[in-house]
Parts: sequence; C-alpha cells; structure tokens
Amino acid sequence: MIRIAAVGDVHVDKDVLGRFRPALEELPDRADALLIAGDLTRHGTVDEARCFVTEFGGLGVPVVVVLGNHDHQSDQQARVTDVLTDAGITVLEGEATVLELHGHRLGIAGVKGFGGGFAGACASNFGEREMKEFVGTTEVIAQRLEAALMSVQVDALVALTHYAPVPDTLVGEPLEIYAFLGCYQLGRAIDATPAALALHGHAHHGSERGRTPGGVPVRNVAHPVIKQAYNVYQLLSDSVDSALVAN
Ligand SMILES: [Fe+2]
Ligand SMILES: [Fe+2]
Repeated sequence: MIRIAAVGDVHVDKDVLGRFRPALEELPDRADALLIAGDLTRHGTVDEARCFVTEFGGLGVPVVVVLGNHDHQSDQQARVTDVLTDAGITVLEGEATVLELHGHRLGIAGVKGFGGGFAGACASNFGEREMKEFVGTTEVIAQRLEAALMSVQVDALVALTHYAPVPDTLVGEPLEIYAFLGCYQLGRAIDATPAALALHGHAHHGSERGRTPGGVPVRNVAHPVIKQAYNVYQLLSDSVDSALVAN
C-alpha cells in the first residue's frame, strides 16, 4: 500500500508562514509522499515561492507539485520553479516522475491544466482566432498530460493537475464559472491511461469527490475544500480514501 498526502491552493505568502507546518511535521508518520495541486503562492512572486519552500520544504518525504494560475500571476513561473527545484521539490509540467516506495513504483504525471468547460457547456475550436487559441491551449495541455501519464511503467499512477478534469468536484461553485475551473479534455486524457487516481485543486468552493467518465476516482484537494493541511489517499489497496486523516 502507498499512502499519498495531498493538498492544493495553499496560497502561501508571508502571512501564511507557520500555518501548515505543525501538521506537516507529522506527515512522514502518515504518508509516503506529498502531492500539491497548484496555487502554491498568492501572486506567483519569487519571495512567495521562498515562503512556500520554508513552509513545505525539508519534510522528510518527497514533495511533488504542479503550479496553478496564481503561480503564473507575476509571469515569474520559471523563477518560481527554480526556487522550488533548488529546495528539492519536484515541479511537473507535462512530465512524470517515479517514486520508489515500499518496493512499489509510484508514477505521478502533472500539468497545470486549463479551462474550457465540460460536456454541453464547453468552448469549441471555432470562430475567432482568440477562441481557437484558448481551446488549442486546453487541448495541447491535455495531450501533454496523457503523454506524461503514458511515459512511465509503474505499479500505481496518479494524475496531478490544478484545473479540474471533471465537473463532479466543482459542485458548490457557480455553474457560470465551471468553464474557467476545468475542462473535459483533462478527464479524457486521464481515461486514456491506466491512472488510478486524479488529484486537482483550483475550485475552492467545490466538492472533494468525483469520478472520470471512465471511472477513475477524482479528488479536489483544494485546502478550502478539505479544510485541513492535507488528506491521505491509499493506492494499491481496496479503497482510495484513507482512514488516516491529518489535522
Ligand atoms: Fe486557488
Ligand atoms: Fe487556481
């Protein structure tokens, strides 16, 4: 069994320092790795990235993240990524990483993702150049996720995104903004692979649990949704959701 701790939308800046750390100190007793589903910072500055590293670095377990839209706000995402990488944190954008845990190989493939909407209420690749570019961005990112998921041979495979791959986990958000919270293309990409679990954030007012059309469990781990420092999920066991719950 592999235990994955996960959270998203921690939005760290100097005012958040110390808020997560007490619970994180206990994480190695409860989980084998920590996955963070984007919006690591509030405005994507280098200073905030350093604050994030102070809060989430040096935990004693591997930390794997994707960036969120907030981490792009200052157009410093490359420098933010460098700060995280220098601290030993793995940042995925169209790539996969493999962790060896208890003799099992855990594969994690990640992209930030993008909006576009879901069946019956989605943007289409038609009309103005700007609209085609919007949908084209969504489709390219989804293709990168699928390729990353398919690039590893592992015992358990997880898709990590910021934007949602299904509408189930958006319930609680206004319907009018679903198209800005996720897209069906991410769910379709996940369903084309042997992924066992999909984790995302971004929808602060959404719901924790959903499922792709192909049946892959989806969990919205945005901090305002799970209301604790992290949730723990099990892989290679009968149930995805762990009885182990952190504060
Ligand atoms: Fe967020
Ligand atoms: Fe976000």
